[in-house]
Amino acid sequence: MPKPPRDAFTTTFGVLVATLGSAIGLGNIWKFPSLTGANGGASFLLVYLAATLLVGLPVMIAETMLGRAARANAVTSFEILAPRGQWGWKAIGWMGFAAALLIMAFYSEVAGWVYAYIFKAVSGEISTIDPKVAGAAFGALVSSPLTVLAWQWVVLALTGGIIMFGVSKGIEAVTRRLVPLLFILLLVLCVRSLTLAGAGKGLAFLFQPDFAKITPAVVLTALGLAFFKLSLGMGTMLTYGSYFRDEQNIPWTATRVMLADLSVSLLAGIAIFPAVFTFGFAPSAGPSLVFMTIPAVFTSMPGGIVFMTIFFFLTAIASVGAILSLLEVPAAILSERYGLGRKSAAVLTIAAIALLGVPASLSQSLMENVKLFGLNPFDLFDYLTSNVLLPLGGILICLFVGWVYGPEKTEQSLSNHGALANRGLIRATFFLIRFVAPLAIAIVLLNGLKLI
Ligand code: PHE
Repeated sequence: MPKPPRDAFTTTFGVLVATLGSAIGLGNIWKFPSLTGANGGASFLLVYLAATLLVGLPVMIAETMLGRAARANAVTSFEILAPRGQWGWKAIGWMGFAAALLIMAFYSEVAGWVYAYIFKAVSGEISTIDPKVAGAAFGALVSSPLTVLAWQWVVLALTGGIIMFGVSKGIEAVTRRLVPLLFILLLVLCVRSLTLAGAGKGLAFLFQPDFAKITPAVVLTALGLAFFKLSLGMGTMLTYGSYFRDEQNIPWTATRVMLADLSVSLLAGIAIFPAVFTFGFAPSAGPSLVFMTIPAVFTSMPGGIVFMTIFFFLTAIASVGAILSLLEVPAAILSERYGLGRKSAAVLTIAAIALLGVPASLSQSLMENVKLFGLNPFDLFDYLTSNVLLPLGGILICLFVGWVYGPEKTEQSLSNHGALANRGLIRATFFLIRFVAPLAIAIVLLNGLKLI
């Protein structure tokens, strides 16, 4: 029987938008600022930058290349590309399957907080520059088990519905128009932040490194963030690469996505840290940081409530692109390998996430004392994915491309069979993929986990 035609992105621009949609999300607005704040500011940012350039970008290129070469889901791709007998490589795809579900378990919860904040913004409840009031509002939300669960389920029902009804194309069209607005709103926030009394201190925190703050654990966290930010090491970029067009310039697409993603994160940082020092928030507040400081900046400007509402709405929209790309990994594996229809694959995936999501959502209330390795379920899922599974997936992908797929095929793939004149660039990228990235990840991982 002939294989049904696979879905594909139809334009070069469409590819860029979807890939960007996957990269940009709560990672920029929520995770980047809270990790930067908790891990010492500028020094963390520097390590993060190095990790993004030396490891993130090459892995992103490698992953999309494999997907496009195999034109299949994250598991089947390795069956197709690995030499006969080397079936073990497909474990990378299954690790990605697990990572996607675990990430979704907490990501959907944070997205739920964002949805809830749209309504809190309208009500005026979070219009405050007082850290105590802001902290109490956030605490009231996350400590109410039913409320957080309900919001998480709203997120899952909405995004699962998008996948089930195959309307992701329509959604992409909406995201494409709205996410640039988020960028503009972030710019407005930055202007306001830079005119606050604590702007100097905030900027110094973000840009003046104190190298004493760099520890092996900090380096691992920065590397994990680089993977999480660019949706790497777990099959998302591979699956998206499988929908790339043959003419797509992969290295250039990856570079543009990386740069755009980085600018959004930096804007979020510039919007947040001046407020931290102006109003007396703790930079190390963790997951709650954004939910307290962003409202404070809006509160200190005219029309604050309106802008704040739009901001949380746009952030919710931005999270959709990332969530769809996370769901795509298990959905593609289930539908292509087990012949499940898109609908059943989506329902199964969402059901699994809803189950895993319960302990994550209750981590700030009923289950706050349930700990493994000293971490509650929310932190555990986050740590396990960003700091273990994604880097591990990254090493394996690099080893596969560097030593199994090899230099000739890589050059063929990345030059689109000679159509692009980018030989020098490909060689440099291949060197990073073969030696630098896997070695760097291995050292950081082993040190960060205190295994050496
Ligand atoms: N990159 C997304 C973000 O930063 C999260 C994500 C991780 C998406 C892994 C897909 C895969 O918000």
